Amino acid sequence: MDYQLLFAEALYKQLKDQLKQDKIIQLIEKPKYQEMGDFAFPCFELAKVFRKAPHQIALELSEQVVLPDAFTKIEAAGGYVNVFLDKSQVSSFVVEEVLKKKSHYGAVNQGEGAVITIDFSSPNIAKPFSMGHLRSTVIGHSLARIAEKNGFEVVRINHLGDWGTQFGKLIAAYKLWGNEEQIRKNPIKELLKLYVQFHDEAEHDSTLIDEGRLWFKRLEDGDQEALALWKWFRDESLKEFNSIYQLLGVTFDSVQGEAFYNDKMDRVVQLLEEKELLEESDGALVVETAEGMPPCLIKKKDGTTLYATRDLAAAIYRHETYGSERSLYVVGNEQTLHFKQLFHVLQKMGYDWSLELSHVPFGMMLKDGKKMSTRKGKVVLLEEVLKEAVSLARQNIADKNPSLADQEQVAHQVGTGAVIFHDLKNHRLNDVEFSLDTMLKFEGETGPYVQYTHARASSILRKGAYQEKANGLAFSGETAWSVIKCLMEFPEAVKRSFEGNDPSQTAKYVLELAKVFNQFYGNVRILDAAEERQEKLSLVHAVQIVLKEGLHLLGVEAPEEM
Ligand code: ARG
Repeated sequence: MDYQLLFAEALYKQLKDQLKQDKIIQLIEKPKYQEMGDFAFPCFELAKVFRKAPHQIALELSEQVVLPDAFTKIEAAGGYVNVFLDKSQVSSFVVEEVLKKKSHYGAVNQGEGAVITIDFSSPNIAKPFSMGHLRSTVIGHSLARIAEKNGFEVVRINHLGDWGTQFGKLIAAYKLWGNEEQIRKNPIKELLKLYVQFHDEAEHDSTLIDEGRLWFKRLEDGDQEALALWKWFRDESLKEFNSIYQLLGVTFDSVQGEAFYNDKMDRVVQLLEEKELLEESDGALVVETAEGMPPCLIKKKDGTTLYATRDLAAAIYRHETYGSERSLYVVGNEQTLHFKQLFHVLQKMGYDWSLELSHVPFGMMLKDGKKMSTRKGKVVLLEEVLKEAVSLARQNIADKNPSLADQEQVAHQVGTGAVIFHDLKNHRLNDVEFSLDTMLKFEGETGPYVQYTHARASSILRKGAYQEKANGLAFSGETAWSVIKCLMEFPEAVKRSFEGNDPSQTAKYVLELAKVFNQFYGNVRILDAAEERQEKLSLVHAVQIVLKEGLHLLGVEAPEEM
């Protein structure tokens, strides 16, 4: 039940001629202090319309507005109309609603099944999975679940970086210095080494660059040897990426990298030609973009295509294949210009749907305030970092709960959950300081804290031999009110997360719910309660359900015990 909406509807009956209902909803506030009611409607904007003082309008409205019986009181205070919910009725209603809907509680059907494609993760083959790719993976995975919760059908796309001049260089390097056996043993490390060596040696041997270009040309022309090596590098890289995805519980509906669009490129160039958008510049083909933006490079002098060309083909392909109504590209800040150019060119091509494409940028991952990078072969390998998180979680658990069954599985859930939650708890545009110690703490704003609260709720239910009863609950009022109000907020948090492409709204929500629940738990006897025992346990159950679902939307698992 949306009580804010009920209040807005009641106000609207009196204010039809002055305000739209949507505007009323927007204006309604949630007072900080319980003495001021559950919702407040400010009358300041109406002062001009009515030519009366706000407090006068508030007074009149408080007398005229007729509220449904979920409300107990309406009063004017200064320029506000304050209303109070019937705590007992609303508490029972909210808890019963959560128990009935379970994990579907909070679902909003805004999307009505419309398709949204989400391009995320998208690492580059033969290179390590970077911290930036980790951020994209974690944010994109969560946005996908949030979009589903908002009623959209999601297509998760991994746009692998598996084509481009760098593969010419890599093949050239392999032909010169490569060792098959070593690569099989440690593909990404060895391939990266070759790539770095190529760049080092090319500094004093310029023939290498030509050699690399030649191999890329061969690759684009379909040369057997070049293709076989490329395919091998790709397969080996995918194996490593897949083990990371498995660790994080991330899946895709489509793993079509840049190479997939090779045979779709001529059509793009032809379309651009027909629309008379192509221009020559130093032998290359470009499309002019808006003022202040450099032109978008479509084809190089030697006839090879580029990252942007492949993204044009991909956008058109996705629109045609999935009929997507919206598309998100979860890619770091530093590619802002690329996406501006891309969207601009699609707009110039006359595709109205390009207005529904959005770049969802994010900040950097830092270590001690500095960017974590893949400098000169000295890489922080992501898989090692994740394993380290799991191993720290394993130690924590062994200290706290040595008799726990399934320690290995729980350590996995807590370790990866900590990394994911830490990434998502602040707005994505902020940089993230990567500190394993901080993110693995069981108290403070961490994933393990929320997981621990969930496990605590689960344990209360076990100890209380709880039996579910989703009807006829009779809460008396006060005690659980802060928890009830927080439970009521969940659907809105889900909506805000979607509208802002912002998982941190959900992360902040679960932190708040965990906090108010722990306060409640500290103040109220539950297990040995004689009064309202069923109500209290039902509330614990409702909290357990919503914490679990909130964490799920972030891509974090919720163990029953830890
Ligand atoms: N592979 C690219 C990189 O690592 C990211 C690709 C993002 N997706 C896209 N459609 N351009 O920088």
